[in-house]
Amino acid sequence: MIDKLDADIEHLRKLFVFPESQDRFLEFGKQILDMMYNSFKQKGGLHSSITLDELSSLFSDISIPRDPKLLRDIFPEIQNKIAAHSVKVYSPYYIGHMTSAIPYFTILIEMIVSSLNQNQVKIETAKASTYVERELLCWIHRLIYRKNPRFYKETIQNHRVALGNVTSDGTMANLTAMLVARNLLFKEDGRFPGIASAGLAEAYNHYNCEKTVLLMSKRGHYSFDKIADLCGIGDNNIIKIPVENGTNKIDINVLTKELNSIEDYNNNHEKKIKILSLIGIAGTTETGNIDNLYEMNKLAKKHKTRFHVDAAWGGPVLFVEDYAHLFKGIEEADSVTFDSHKLLYLPLSMGMVLFNSEKDLQSLEHTTQYVVRRDSRDQGRFTIEGSRPFAALRPWVALKVIGSEGFRLLFEKAFTISSYFKTQIDLHSNFESLNEPELFIFNYRFIPNRIKKHLESLMSDKSEASLKQVTRINNELNALNIQLHREIRNNDLSFVSRTVIESTKYSPDEIVVLRAVTINPLTTNSIIKEIIAEHNRLGLRIFNKSWKKKFKNIT
Ligand SMILES: Cc1ncc(COP(=O)(O)O)c(C=O)c1O
Repeated sequence: MIDKLDADIEHLRKLFVFPESQDRFLEFGKQILDMMYNSFKQKGGLHSSITLDELSSLFSDISIPRDPKLLRDIFPEIQNKIAAHSVKVYSPYYIGHMTSAIPYFTILIEMIVSSLNQNQVKIETAKASTYVERELLCWIHRLIYRKNPRFYKETIQNHRVALGNVTSDGTMANLTAMLVARNLLFKEDGRFPGIASAGLAEAYNHYNCEKTVLLMSKRGHYSFDKIADLCGIGDNNIIKIPVENGTNKIDINVLTKELNSIEDYNNNHEKKIKILSLIGIAGTTETGNIDNLYEMNKLAKKHKTRFHVDAAWGGPVLFVEDYAHLFKGIEEADSVTFDSHKLLYLPLSMGMVLFNSEKDLQSLEHTTQYVVRRDSRDQGRFTIEGSRPFAALRPWVALKVIGSEGFRLLFEKAFTISSYFKTQIDLHSNFESLNEPELFIFNYRFIPNRIKKHLESLMSDKSEASLKQVTRINNELNALNIQLHREIRNNDLSFVSRTVIESTKYSPDEIVVLRAVTINPLTTNSIIKEIIAEHNRLGLRIFNKSWKKKFKNIT
């Protein structure tokens, strides 16, 4: 190891010249791949045992490194300080989040993305890749909207229109859709130049608007809170509609009433409430369930407002014909969000937003003199983001390598696993399932058999005293499941996440649930069995140790 390299311009120059670089490309490429392969192979827990305090002290050097170093001398640091303490999200026992295993070839594709280093903002830095991106957007648009082939032939590479944008993630995709909705709602009108130019105050004034609201279910992703803030409508103005008991789908009756009351208000007041959009969710973050998009679209049309579908999670499942009925109505949405780093099994991160009308994105168009000139082919004319990587190469390649048929098989396998999980939990005397896993997300909780039976008898009784008792028991069960979740993390053999859902059969209680996302193709039924046995063992241990007495007092 060389202790110190002088900052020598000749050495630095060589770093940029392939293949003469001192840190030779092929040699180090292989070393990096070996290092990653070895860390994938490592046995042991899913998380390293290092504490967060220890980690923070590992990364508390406050000085910027001054002198250059050879890459190979940084390797041990990357391996020992970073790779060793990264979360093994690729493990078949890690079934807690939407971030999971990726196919090995995508790691290699990542190298192509970085080595080409295209900047998608403008054709001058993204030649072929601009056309690849448009082709990909056309594929996904067609998957969702199923318009006739002529429409796609005319629009796929027509730079005057845009079927959608590639974005850095689902949040940016949702933001793009909402900004388009806002600009169209407060569009140019006579001498009013439109909200994008005139700003919020003038727009509200011109359109006689008291406030703007957005309606979605309580299960809506929190990105919309940020978006309401960024669009200037304010996150207090998101109307969060409850979900129908037990289904996790927006309650259409409550939504209908809410829309009617807005209409009544507008009929009786001079200043109006404007609706930015209805948001349907195709795969809620917490439960993976899909709203009734068909009915939501009908309501949006009736109330002359836009309809956006957040399919960041569930979008790719459209590849499976047998599940198409779950998404009925998505093809009528004005815009749809679709992530590639979730159910397309690709590395983080890339989202897409698709628009039913190829003209909608014109409402976001910005041009300058030095790039994104008017009528140029620059994709950056329609994007909120500026510089963007050639992330579209990942799904473009993956769709060729795996094919829609391959994705269908992967989803069928994920569905089998989540159904198996639910069946096993339903058969188990110490657990209870709390949702129907439509899209591979399953909620359940630990509840010792005796308590479960007691709870069920109280629920069937329905007297006020019994329902109060149900709430007290649920509160204790919530605390028990939080502790179980901690124990699962400490045990570190498997990982599921945890959340709180209301509108279960114990409505209106808030119930702490364990959340399993079973999409890793390497997860098997026998692994699920092992995981349930482990959770049962840990649950019983903490119940017998610290909870038995507490429950005795309340049951
Ligand atoms: C339904 C839904 N929408 C949007 C998002 C935000 O996506 P991202 O994390 O890619 O910004 C998520 C993320 O989990 C999601 O589940």
